[in-house]
Amino acid sequence: MKEQISAILLEAKEQVADSQNEGEIEAIRVKYLGKKGELTAILKQMGSLAPDERPKMGALVNEAKSELECLIADKKTELKSAEQLKKLAEETIDITMPAKELKVGKLHPLNTVLDDMIDIFQSMGFDVVDGPEVETDHYNFECLNVPADHPARDMQDTFYLADNLLLRTQTSAAQIRTMETRKPPIRVICPGRVFRADEVDATHSPVFHQIEGLVVDKGITMCDLKGVLEQFAHEIYGSDTKVKFRPSFFPFTEPSVEVDVTCSECGGKGCRVCKGSGWIEILGAGMVHPNVLRSCGIDPEEYSGFAFGIGLDRLTTTRYKISDIRLLFENDKRFLDQF
Ligand code: DAH
Repeated sequence: MKEQISAILLEAKEQVADSQNEGEIEAIRVKYLGKKGELTAILKQMGSLAPDERPKMGALVNEAKSELECLIADKKTELKSAEQLKKLAEETIDITMPAKELKVGKLHPLNTVLDDMIDIFQSMGFDVVDGPEVETDHYNFECLNVPADHPARDMQDTFYLADNLLLRTQTSAAQIRTMETRKPPIRVICPGRVFRADEVDATHSPVFHQIEGLVVDKGITMCDLKGVLEQFAHEIYGSDTKVKFRPSFFPFTEPSVEVDVTCSECGGKGCRVCKGSGWIEILGAGMVHPNVLRSCGIDPEEYSGFAFGIGLDRLTTTRYKISDIRLLFENDKRFLDQF
């Protein structure tokens, strides 16, 4: 029996040493130490021994069992830590790898410039109003002193939707809607999209943006117009920018002006952007025509006003040195990411 015990123990030790994982080691434990295990079975043979042999053999079996138990426990720990090391090695994080880029949205350059303009006019006491993009002939032309047969209609190639319905060609329509709903003193700006059937090129787009302005009160003169627009130009382009008022014509203002500022690209020397003139035209303006005031029920003998229309797209392309207006409308992220 003694030899039998050592043989079993030897065999079990070899198997423990060879085992590769926790499952295998557990199977070995059951095989030798379990209820029906080989060492347990030996204990059951004890009855066939002489009574004085029994304690000796019992001690031998128990010794073998506890030796094997220790070995199994050690092997289990060993396997467990090997597994843990393997897992750690597999899950190593390489902190030198470049991080995933987070795509963050931001304001379109047109909106950045518009926000600046709104700030400037709000600081001078103007309200911001909105107007519809689909307009009637009445608001877009008639009330602005441009009757159906007026040659000035040719200045703006219009997208007509129906006989009397069109895509507004100018934000000036908002002047009429404002004067119909508000009483003087009036000080508003109306930013928005406008539409014209122009030939598309680097400086022309069928959709572009204007900011309309309107001031109506008692005693408003051309000096007020000059003061407000000069202040605006200095805030947007810098205080050393020169501002020039040129006589012009719009059916809804009398007198009318166009306003130029020194070219921000060349500082007035003349370059490609200003086509050699040193000046860039940024807006049209004038004293509101008495016919326009009258069409909105405001007495031109009592009130006067000035109005202006600023091109937002030109302001944006010159500020950011964008060479082609079409880039503003393509919404190519590679372009927009630069601002
Ligand atoms: N509506 C004009 C245009 O689209 C711009 C303009 C000129 C607006 C003079 C005005 C103004 O309010 O007074 O060309």
